[in-house]
Amino acid sequence: MEQTRAPLWEQITQFLHREERVWLHVPTHSGGLGLPAAIKQLFAAYARCDLTELPGLDDLFQPTGVLAEAQALAARLWQARRSYFLVNGASAGVRAMVLATCNPGDTILLARNAHGSVLQALVATGAIPRYLPVAETAGFPLNVTVEAVKAGFKQYPEAKALLITSPSYFGVTADLAAIAEVVHQARALLLVDEAHGAHLDFSAALPASAGEYCDLRVQSWHKTLGALTPGAVLHWQGGDVDEERLQTALQGAQTSSPPYPLLLSLDLVRQRMALEGKALIGEMVQQALLVRQAVEAYFPLLTPSQVQSLGFGLDITRVTMLTAQIGVCGLEAGQQLGQLGIDLELIQPDCLLAIVGPGYQTQWTEKLADSLARLQLKTADRQLPKLPPVPELVLTPREAVYRQSVLIPYQAAAGKVAAAMVVCYPPGIPLCLPGERITPALVAYLADALQQGVAFRGLTKDGQLKVVKEVK
Ligand SMILES: Cc1ncc(COP(=O)(O)O)c(C=O)c1O
Repeated sequence: MEQTRAPLWEQITQFLHREERVWLHVPTHSGGLGLPAAIKQLFAAYARCDLTELPGLDDLFQPTGVLAEAQALAARLWQARRSYFLVNGASAGVRAMVLATCNPGDTILLARNAHGSVLQALVATGAIPRYLPVAETAGFPLNVTVEAVKAGFKQYPEAKALLITSPSYFGVTADLAAIAEVVHQARALLLVDEAHGAHLDFSAALPASAGEYCDLRVQSWHKTLGALTPGAVLHWQGGDVDEERLQTALQGAQTSSPPYPLLLSLDLVRQRMALEGKALIGEMVQQALLVRQAVEAYFPLLTPSQVQSLGFGLDITRVTMLTAQIGVCGLEAGQQLGQLGIDLELIQPDCLLAIVGPGYQTQWTEKLADSLARLQLKTADRQLPKLPPVPELVLTPREAVYRQSVLIPYQAAAGKVAAAMVVCYPPGIPLCLPGERITPALVAYLADALQQGVAFRGLTKDGQLKVVKEVK
């Protein structure tokens, strides 16, 4: 089958002019006719593609037609044994990877910066998470080291899988070749959350992707390849994965109503990557280099040489400005940039993150440079406190979530067992997860970070968090 083809697109174009048809099926907006007036015009073309499993279209859970063809083309391009389109984001894929590979009571090794979506899978499976630390440079999180993975398997040789996020949100990749050796020697599976790395395979200027090394990987195509949100893909690269169980897990994590506009965007993104991926990502890299040049006159950046010396790689299309290193509050810098028309991916007290993607426009670099020159920033010596150590796990996430829980002020939480995750988002290394004992150091960290304006998921507006109710 040719990569020039776009099976879903070819089929859907047959369905775009259905004025003569009588619509007695979902979606009942009937090609847009029944949409509320305000979005009718805005979504006119979109609504005509918003179809259902009509004859000639396909079933997301058991594709045999155009969707199967579109997925097969994606698998070939990303050199996977099988690829599955995800319509509930990489979040669904992360859940499915865990659900498909872990049984109740199984141990899974996880990088502590694992995305929040893994938590629901841990609750559903009853698997026991054992977290690996994320290495840092000057307090900034990088990724998991090979040594940490070795130590993890030494302590938990029974672990069924390792789930690692590579690249990290900040574009830092782990040494996957070496990690894969350790994981496979331990007869475990390597699951990679590559949500931020679908573009890596298309430029030699970027670190290697996980494709050659992992068993399963998940990519958020809406994050780096220009698909509609939340279009993503799960690739089964190989390895001993029960395919039927994987499909069942995907059904548990996804809607049964295929959103065709989203699927269409995945098919056309795959076609574009096949035909012009190298040029597209090459251009992204060039633009990112110019952005980096413009920014480094004002803020120190996280650089490839910095992370490479510690055994990691860096995707340079992620531009991380380490504002705290020069005593500048990232929140203040980000807010001023926003007022000047520059919208960043992430604004935190200690750093700012800019992402250069396929939609980036050359003239934006000049506007960015002008805006940086106009910033009026005070410097202060305040730094975010160091993250407290990973708390002790006293209940599995499943046990903790199904116990009775109460909300209490965080200041009174030391010694209690967390019933929900507390994490600075996005993307964040969780401070605590359900089942972990909250420490005084964690409470002190929260106090300090809140005072500096950091927002946390898992904490109510008035500073309460959920803990397991103690049984007297
Ligand atoms: C590392 C990581 N994995 C997974 C996800 C979830 O991706 P999606 O938004 O496609 O569900 C995110 C979202 O930010 C993420 O940062």
